Amino acid sequence: MKKAYVIGSNVKKSLSPLIFEYWFKQNKIEGQYLSREIEPDKFDEEIKKILKEDGVCGFNVTIPFKEIIVKKIDRVDEHSKKIGAVNFVSKADSGWLGKNTDWIGFSKAINSGKKKLIKKVAIVIGYGGASKAIIYALRKENFEEIKIFNRTEEKIYHLKNEKGMSPTSLEHLKDCLPEADLVVNTTPVNSLKSLLIQKKINKTLAFDIVYSPQETDFLSNFARENRIYGISMLVYQAAPCFEEWFGVRPTIDQGLFNLLSSHMN
Ligand code: ATR
Repeated sequence: MKKAYVIGSNVKKSLSPLIFEYWFKQNKIEGQYLSREIEPDKFDEEIKKILKEDGVCGFNVTIPFKEIIVKKIDRVDEHSKKIGAVNFVSKADSGWLGKNTDWIGFSKAINSGKKKLIKKVAIVIGYGGASKAIIYALRKENFEEIKIFNRTEEKIYHLKNEKGMSPTSLEHLKDCLPEADLVVNTTPVNSLKSLLIQKKINKTLAFDIVYSPQETDFLSNFARENRIYGISMLVYQAAPCFEEWFGVRPTIDQGLFNLLSSHMN
């Protein structure tokens, strides 16, 4: 039986195993997909074990290993190289190959909403591995300007040299939010509590990478019909991984979203 993992430092509550089990059942495939929690200081030894383990066809990678994993595998695809992060690794004849499907998942998620996407100004909060994939997707979608905000501002200064990218100080975030067409939070739960404002922002579309709880404090700043939930990106990034490992393109249906909703806090 083929086996895959999701690895990360806090994956016990990950909903990815539920997604894979749903698709195993739907496609009558005997496979295994397990979460494997790894402490950051044990990463080197644990990753060595996984790469040698029999029956492992691949694994997903999440916080905080999406960037560091690149050094442990044999090759990365063109998108991962440009993004600088990998969220899925597969065993190929030529060795372990890293790919990035986060950017695909994000693009599908923002295009699956009921409202038409206006591609002028996007705001991205945070600048880690997931944020880099999201910025890559926004550039591919041809957004005119991408404003980036990060707690550690030094990490984003260099972006001012890139066309269409505006690193901006967090103190201006509240003023910039209502003027953006799309706002994306890529930081962890509750990191943006201080952002809660008095008046709802009515026109801006908002996406939160945090998927549990579904209604995050961040999303509560925006009109309900303009919220795009993180769970959609999780599902859309998982589908190409399932297809590569188990050979079947899975169906993304309402039954899956209902199942996942029932497991959210
Ligand atoms: P991922 O791979 O999921 O993107 P990451 O690389 O650890 O995770 O990045 C997390 C992002 O959330 C970073 O931008 C981080 O900001 P710093 O660069 O300042 O570390 C941001 N972040 C994490 N905790 C935060 C907090 N409490 N408040 C604000 N930003 C936070």
